[in-house]
Amino acid sequence: MTRKSIIGSNIKIAKQHLESGNLVAIPTETVYGLAANAFDIKAVAKIFEAKNRPTFDPLIIHTDSIDKIKNWTNDFPTWAEKLGKHFWAGALTLLLPKKTIIPDLVTSGLPHVAVRIPNHELTLQLLKTLDFPLAAPSANPFGYISPTTANHVFEQLGEKVNYILEGGNCKIGVESTIIGEENGKLTIFRKGGIVIEELEKIVGKLIVKEHSNSNPHSDKNQELTKVASSGMLLSHYAPKIKMRLGNIEQMLNEYLSNNEIKINEIGILSFNKKHNQIPTKNQFILSKEGDFSEAAQNLFSYMRELDKLNIKIILAELLPEKELGRAINDRLRRAAY
Ligand code: TXA
Ligand code: MG
Repeated sequence: MTRKSIIGSNIKIAKQHLESGNLVAIPTETVYGLAANAFDIKAVAKIFEAKNRPTFDPLIIHTDSIDKIKNWTNDFPTWAEKLGKHFWAGALTLLLPKKTIIPDLVTSGLPHVAVRIPNHELTLQLLKTLDFPLAAPSANPFGYISPTTANHVFEQLGEKVNYILEGGNCKIGVESTIIGEENGKLTIFRKGGIVIEELEKIVGKLIVKEHSNSNPHSDKNQELTKVASSGMLLSHYAPKIKMRLGNIEQMLNEYLSNNEIKINEIGILSFNKKHNQIPTKNQFILSKEGDFSEAAQNLFSYMRELDKLNIKIILAELLPEKELGRAINDRLRRAAY
């Protein structure tokens, strides 16, 4: 199949595929998702297969209204009401008790389902016409960097997807923030596009899980995976080329002084500064102005660009640990794991 025949902005084609149990990549404001009818178990199984994703890693369901969500959940507590009204459509995912209509395959057997109303015009139009929610993880092979353009999806999943709905570059560029209750306390399980500072204005102090992971299966499975496949789960959002985090200037001096590596074998992913020793084509500056939103938009694209270079190592640095900087740093730490 050619790129041309698979990528397009036709909602009718997307809808037909989804109604026939096929896979469609959808644009959202965070990253592109790999979507299927959440009520169709065979279709959902295709998502896991296409991504090579373990079935103990549950999926977020996407829809266009709180009323629809209430049909699929057993409880919609006050905190969810407040957050939903304030931030949806937006980069926020809520964990809510599921009704039996949501297949166990979607939630990996967990009692809660992750739900989100994405903020993307084309995808909202599509969701409006569907009478089922879309289960959709990020549209990348398991463990790799999330896609922020239709082309990223095509490059990696190609013919495994029946249609890629072209919706331009993702405006936010990092995944949604995931919130749920744990031991009666509202907890952030994954830092993401809606920042903690804004969330706390609406619902008060939140607990933040540092090694953001909302999946209670993952601890035991990380142990299993460590043995079976060298820690797949711990490393996420990761380029194939090794990435190191730290003070870029110091790391550069270290590599260059012991002649371990040639200057053109080093790639740089910096927040806002240029490093004159390194060829420009190997340098990616997230935001020259030091703007967090711009940095988030560029993050995954730049990691992909660096991954295509003929280099041996990527040197990267953390951003200030506040606002969107926290979600970006979380992705950088995983990429460098
Ligand atoms: O921005 C986003 O959230 C994107 C777009 C496509 O919506 N989606 C996304 O999905 O990032 P994914 O599958 O790549 O990451 C979803 C995370 C996973 O870490 C998964 O373990 C967690 O959400 N999750 C999903 N359902 C859950 C549940 N029922 N309980 C706990 N964690 C859950
Ligand atoms: Mg993902």
